[in-house]
Amino acid sequence: MLDLILRHCTLPDGRVDQDVAVAQGRIAAIGTALPVSAVQDIDAQGQLLSPPFVDAHFHMDSTLSYGLPRVNQSGTLLEGIALWGELKPTLTQDAIVERALNYCDWAVAKGLLAIRSHVDVCDPRLLAVEALLHVRERVKPYLDLQLVAFPQDGVLRCPGALSQLQRALDMGVDVVGGIPHFERTMAEGAESVRLLCEIAAERGLQVDMHCDETDDPMSRHIETLAFHSQRLGLQGRVAGSHLTSMHSMDNYYVSKLLPLIREAGVAAIANPLINITLQGRHDSYPKRRGMTRVPELIAAGVDVAFGHDCVMDPWYSLGSADMLEVAHMGLHVGQLTGREAMRQCFEAVTTVPARILGLAGYGLDIGCQADMVLLQARDPIEAIRLRATRLLVVRRGQIVARTPAQEAQLTLPGRAASVQFQRPH
Ligand code: FE2
Repeated sequence: MLDLILRHCTLPDGRVDQDVAVAQGRIAAIGTALPVSAVQDIDAQGQLLSPPFVDAHFHMDSTLSYGLPRVNQSGTLLEGIALWGELKPTLTQDAIVERALNYCDWAVAKGLLAIRSHVDVCDPRLLAVEALLHVRERVKPYLDLQLVAFPQDGVLRCPGALSQLQRALDMGVDVVGGIPHFERTMAEGAESVRLLCEIAAERGLQVDMHCDETDDPMSRHIETLAFHSQRLGLQGRVAGSHLTSMHSMDNYYVSKLLPLIREAGVAAIANPLINITLQGRHDSYPKRRGMTRVPELIAAGVDVAFGHDCVMDPWYSLGSADMLEVAHMGLHVGQLTGREAMRQCFEAVTTVPARILGLAGYGLDIGCQADMVLLQARDPIEAIRLRATRLLVVRRGQIVARTPAQEAQLTLPGRAASVQFQRPH
């Protein structure tokens, strides 16, 4: 007897009428009209069954702190960093834990079951590190939380940051972070990249740096990140987050840069919701779009994920853990409107970030972890269009969240009584 079977599912690769059977927390069988029975037998009615959403870039230490102690007036990255600096001394471990656990509840409800979160290591107390290590354990049964040691104020610029970053890694933080464009000079930025990549290589860890999150086309730390990734044999273990300066770089230089990123096996993580609002603030018109060159990176063979980055914090006042909202914005800002490009936007919040995080057993194949989300949509493109309702969220074969199907009741004479917004058959 199996634990769970979801019948008549559509899968992201286009297969229809598939039954997905689960035993002991793993996918046991996939096929049409499986002749098996299970404790729970659910008719998915042709809706899309996807592996869960994955957020490759988030800040869980600041989430849900919007308005504390005040709001960001200019809307810029730099005021956000200053505001976070005002908030930091007043933080308590309990408050960080409570906000993070609240956010994880939102995430589960939205089918977001793996998050890579940066955690600021520039507070000498390492209060946020302790808090999020605790949260990582608390949520483990239902959400994979990966932590990045992030020197928000610059690993070289901020006194003590380097030893605090090492301490955070000793305490069990998973990934080495950085912020080269916030160091004092370009040279110091490059030096920070070298230093941090060497720490990762020595410790056998992954790297994920905030890199070139600026409108300055001369901010070229991604080149240095690619260089050291290759020099140290870190291919496949390094990600450059944001990379927004690429939107303003000279095309000739980018034509050299893209193959370097590809050769070095460096992944790119764009954060469309945040960067469309933070970047271009010094422009009049025309005003730059604040996102890296997503279609060009994908065409060059680089793994590109979309991250949420922030939800209700000093940098961003909106958000609800909805990775389909992230994909929707990424699609628009990147003009990724072709059918294949729209499907790639769905992959940028599912399979690609799962690969970047190195999630074991992720996917909809026999033997994979039974982590899944049933969406009120017929295919990945419709899921993005509708920011589709998460009808069911499954973790290790257990249903952990349900949301009723979205349906509006109409009272129009001569028309149907209800409408669901899905494409008519
Ligand atoms: Fe970030």
